[in-house]
Amino acid sequence: MPKHAIIAGTGIYDLPGFDPTPVVVETPFGPAAYNRCQGDLVFLPRHGLHHDTPPHAINYRANFWALHSLGVESVVAAYAVGSLHRSIPLRGLALMTDFIDRTNGRADTFYTGGDWGVGHADMSRPYCPRLGKVILEQAAAQGVEIVPKATYAATNGPRFESPAEVRLLTAWGGDVVGMTGVPEVALARELGMHFAGVGLSMNLAVGLEEELAVVRDLSAQRAAMLSILQQALQGFEDGPGCGCVGAVDFLGATKMSIPRAHPRT
Ligand code: HPA
Repeated sequence: MPKHAIIAGTGIYDLPGFDPTPVVVETPFGPAAYNRCQGDLVFLPRHGLHHDTPPHAINYRANFWALHSLGVESVVAAYAVGSLHRSIPLRGLALMTDFIDRTNGRADTFYTGGDWGVGHADMSRPYCPRLGKVILEQAAAQGVEIVPKATYAATNGPRFESPAEVRLLTAWGGDVVGMTGVPEVALARELGMHFAGVGLSMNLAVGLEEELAVVRDLSAQRAAMLSILQQALQGFEDGPGCGCVGAVDFLGATKMSIPRAHPRT
C-alpha cells in the first residue's frame, strides 16, 4: 500500500524506478493521476498527465484527496522557484519552513462547510519538521548544498512578478517565489499528512537581475534533488511529535473528519 508520495512539476515528469502507466483515481473533486514507483512510493505529476495544466488551474484538491485515499501519509513536493535573495543561488535547493499566500481564486480547502464541516488548520509549523530534518540529513549525506530554512511566496501566475511585486514579497520575508506551493501545503495539513517542500531555483527574481533569465538545463540538479527526496522518504514513519496528524482545530464547530480509505494503524 502506498505510504509516501513525491509531487513534482516543471521539468520533472518521472522518477527513477517509476511505472510509466498512470493510474487514474476518481475523487469527489474530479480525477487525479499518479504513477506507482518502487516500494511504497507514488509519484504525482501536479500539472496532470499531459503536463498541460497551468498553476492556477491545477485541481489541487483532487491531487491531495487521491493521495490521501490511497493511504499516503508523507508527501514531499518539489517546486521550481525563483530566488528572492542571492543567498539562494541559481540552481540551488532550499527547504521550505514557512509560506506567504498571494494566490487567489483557488479551491484551497476541504472544509467548505455543510457535510464537509468547518475546520481550521494550524499553520504554526506548516511543513513537517521531522520530514524536513531527514531531507537535510540526506542532502548532507549526498554532499548536496541546501538552504535549510526558506519562506515560499506563492503567487497566482501564470505570469511572473513585476519588479514592485518582487520588492513587496522580499519585504514581507519571502525567500523564494513560485506558483504552486499554495494550496498544496494547506491541503496536506488539512489531511493530517507529513508534508515537506523543496525548491529548485530556476531564476533570480526580477530586480535582482535586470532581465528575467530562466535556466533551462537543470537535469543534474533535478536528479540530485529527486535522489535526496526518495531517500528521505524511504523508511520515514508516520507518527506524532511534529503536530501534522490532527493539525485541524474545529473551534467548537461540529467535528467532521474527512474519511480515510485506509485508517492509520
Ligand atoms: N516566479 C514565480 N514562479 C516561478 C519563478 C518566478 O520567478 N521561477 C520559477 N517559478
